[in-house]
Amino acid sequence: MPEIKRVGVLGAGLMGSGIAQVSAQAGYDTVVREVSDALHERAVAGIGKQLGKAVDKGKLAAEDRDSTLGRLRGTTSLEELAECDIIIEAVVEDLEIKNEMWRTLDGICGPEAIFASNTSSLTIADMAAATRRPERMVGLHFFNPVPVMKLVEVVKTIATDPEVFETAFEFARSLGKEPIVCKDNSGFVVNLLLVPYMMDAIRAVEQGVASVEDIDKGMRLGTGYPMGPFTLSDFVGLDTLDKIGDIMYNEYKDKRYASPPLLRRMVSLGYQGRKSGKGFYDYAQDPPRVVDFGI
Ligand code: 3HC
Repeated sequence: MPEIKRVGVLGAGLMGSGIAQVSAQAGYDTVVREVSDALHERAVAGIGKQLGKAVDKGKLAAEDRDSTLGRLRGTTSLEELAECDIIIEAVVEDLEIKNEMWRTLDGICGPEAIFASNTSSLTIADMAAATRRPERMVGLHFFNPVPVMKLVEVVKTIATDPEVFETAFEFARSLGKEPIVCKDNSGFVVNLLLVPYMMDAIRAVEQGVASVEDIDKGMRLGTGYPMGPFTLSDFVGLDTLDKIGDIMYNEYKDKRYASPPLLRRMVSLGYQGRKSGKGFYDYAQDPPRVVDFGI
């Protein structure tokens, strides 16, 4: 099986920086690419802060933090990913933006390099088709927060080389994750089930079934979920949820995936959840308080 030594990560947002962190912690030389110096510098500083917290809690040795940070590098140049054995893409959920990068990297990277996408809802085949290496393309779908969540969905298309899939699967394991095998259908396993659940929770509020707080409480205490559906939607990002819903609705033409009107209106008004300070909850309050929509 080909050995992976160098890892490239495209995008240093919430997911990309988490992926870069676990990769560097697992011992891989990791280069994370963003569109500006400010963005990758902020991500690397954030990772340093996370690792620092772990050191303070006595969960990580100071020398391990330092060696992890020594393996991590930010860049704005795609050319700097030329020597990577695997590239994991975690940029915005837009097929054209992703494929533009894959086309460029296809011309830069060695023929053996594996291309992996962390997409939530697009299909891997739609990205593989933009490259001359469709057999070397897989999905590696991580969960937020990446350093904490154990699951990685490893996705094979109808064109993925079995050895490439096996390498990607073992790579996920080497990051300390629990991989599962998934077919290349929009939403893979988790979002196929989770997205309609979150959309249904919003529809339940629209229909006056119960309050945001009570639905969250119900699902936490009744099923043992760590977060209720509204806290989770705010955590994922309402703009992200809306976009994922659109992509999955287009794929399946099933209204369970369609964004309910309330979600649409919230996104239009900039309620993106935790990252914007307001979603179903107002995060300026401590503890966060449910927003009164007056409906
Ligand atoms: N980054 C790194 N570490 C974090 C973190 C973050 N953002 N948030 C929490 N942690 C760590 C804490 O440091 C703590 O570590 P420790 O045990 O070593 O001290 C540990 O996680 C537990 O944190 P807390 O005690 O502060 O809080 P909780 O026990 O409530 O756990 C949680 C927080 C792990 C986020 C938990 O609430 C949870 O599991 N929530 C559900 C998350 C989930 O469902 N994620 C999937 C979203 S869907 C997705 O990502 C797919 C996409 O395609 C949409």
